[in-house]
Amino acid sequence: MSVMDIHLLGSPVLRQRAEEIEGVDDEIRALIDDMFETMGVACGVGLAANQVGIARRVAVINAEGQTFAMINPVVVEQTGRAGAEEGCLSIPDAYAEVTRPESIVLEALDESGEPFRLAATGLVARAIQHEIDHLDGVLFIDHIGPLKRQLLVTRWKKEHRDEGLTRTPRPEESDATN
Ligand code: NI
Repeated sequence: MSVMDIHLLGSPVLRQRAEEIEGVDDEIRALIDDMFETMGVACGVGLAANQVGIARRVAVINAEGQTFAMINPVVVEQTGRAGAEEGCLSIPDAYAEVTRPESIVLEALDESGEPFRLAATGLVARAIQHEIDHLDGVLFIDHIGPLKRQLLVTRWKKEHRDEGLTRTPRPEESDATN
């Protein structure tokens, strides 16, 4: 397993719609292993393949004791609305309140290529939706008002102007974001 570089706001792959995975093979399983490793080092609650530069529909979650990979994930049911602060490993140090469906039902494939269905609420539901957004080229900042977004992005770009389009996650990071 290896830790992968994480793409940052401004990297075009974050705005790409990731491609469906046709068959779950060893290459995809190796990618999932690396993504778990990367999410662990970065202390994330979720990570999508776009964030490690690969526009394919796979993401990993580690939230509230639930750790799983999801391949070709789809939300098939949603209920309620809830707001909470979100962050993103691709936009470090930036946070904003995002309103999303509170409870969802997820359908996806696991690492073996087997379909599974998962009912989720709270942080797990939020993380799943945040990661599926990534696979559609959508970032959490797209869910906030245009003025707030402009302020956040302008400040973030100023604070991170010396960084490139990727960063190597370090174990000392301690903020739990996705
Ligand atoms: Ni994110």
